[in-house]
Amino acid sequence: MPKITLDNIINELQRACVDKKHNFHYFVFATISSKNQVNQRMVVLRFFNKKDAIIYIHTDFRSPKVEQININPNVSLLFYNSRQKLQLSIKAKAIVHHKNETSKWLWSKSSANSVKGYLGKMPPSVKCDCETNNLEEKYLKNIDSLKTVKYAYENFAVIACHITSIDALLLNRTGHKRKLFELENENWVESYLVP
Ligand SMILES: Cc1cc2nc3c(=O)[nH]c(=O)nc-3n(C[C@H](O)[C@H](O)[C@H](O)COP(=O)(O)O)c2cc1C
Repeated sequence: MPKITLDNIINELQRACVDKKHNFHYFVFATISSKNQVNQRMVVLRFFNKKDAIIYIHTDFRSPKVEQININPNVSLLFYNSRQKLQLSIKAKAIVHHKNETSKWLWSKSSANSVKGYLGKMPPSVKCDCETNNLEEKYLKNIDSLKTVKYAYENFAVIACHITSIDALLLNRTGHKRKLFELENENWVESYLVP
């Protein structure tokens, strides 16, 4: 019978950064608006720093989630691995990095195609008069070099989610299991939860 362990969770998060087919590669990222409304959207898991328990996401600096995080850094990240039947509900404090060492580091690891969206003239999520992909024709094709899309760096931002807790639920026909991992003074404290 499978067990929930922190090592397993960390291992899966690390694998999901590089494996696009891993169920944890895409996840639901929730922020709170200034009007106290929950906002959720899909994002890509870009990097996981095991030592400091930080999950990194790429985004457009102009997107509403950036302002939401700057006002309220409390965020939630929801993952589900349907193969393992493992749900992770992660709470974190988020910090937005823009034109600094962290954004430069993740920019250098990015592919041109994954960042060309940040070249859009209009900020994400604003209303517009007609349907648009917000990109010039020349960027719609496959692009190989980061140099070709270098101006996208102006709008490229990184959201660093500093994990405070991981609620892990493992579904099993012979009985579900649930554990809470809380990061206290750089140490993980484990508790069992009623599933
Ligand atoms: C599968 C998928 C992956 C996505 N990945 C990202 C991402 O990594 N970063 C991001 O900012 N938006 C991503 N998006 C778009 C967001 O879901 C969202 O629509 C967009 O960021 C709008 O910003 P807002 O939520 O701040 O209004 C993704 C959407 C889908 C469907």
